[in-house]
Amino acid sequence: MRRSIFPGSFDPLTNGHLDIIRRSAPLFDEMIVAVLNNADKRPMFSVDERCAIIGEVLPTVDTGDCRMLVESFSGLTADFAREQKATAIVRGIRAVSDYEYELRMALMNRRLEPQIETVFLMAGEEYSYVSSTLMKQVFELGGRVAGLIPELVESKMREKLSTS
Ligand code: PNS
Repeated sequence: MRRSIFPGSFDPLTNGHLDIIRRSAPLFDEMIVAVLNNADKRPMFSVDERCAIIGEVLPTVDTGDCRMLVESFSGLTADFAREQKATAIVRGIRAVSDYEYELRMALMNRRLEPQIETVFLMAGEEYSYVSSTLMKQVFELGGRVAGLIPELVESKMREKLSTS
């Protein structure tokens, strides 16, 4: 049984995340989208909202025979991966600029849990500039983000803005 985790903040989920999920699914029997519950940050969506959005969008993604789960976690990614008996941590790389940060995290996670490998996947070039932070910023300032985030995320962001 090959189980992986795909950790991140997912605030919010983007089509770049979905691209990585689609690409990595054939490599695993099971993949847990692991949503970080980060108390330091002030997210747009609560961790429960982020999990619910991901849970609603995932069935629209072709993940073949890979069983998809969504879980939130606090603390270290390496600890969560070990607790879940995952053998791999999946991360997406969009551009060279991501590499240095991702390499440091992968090496630290390997030091913490030597038996768990980080697997990097290259995001589709059409998503090479898509990040949750950029999507929130552009959306809040009235720019178009259609095609870069799932429609459900866009409507949830609209709801958030109208109530804030
Ligand atoms: O995609 P993101 O939002 O940049 O995800 C970053 C994430 C959640 C993978 C990273 O911040 C993380 O692993 N946080 C949990 C705390 C931890 O394990 N820190 C040490 C990493 S070596």
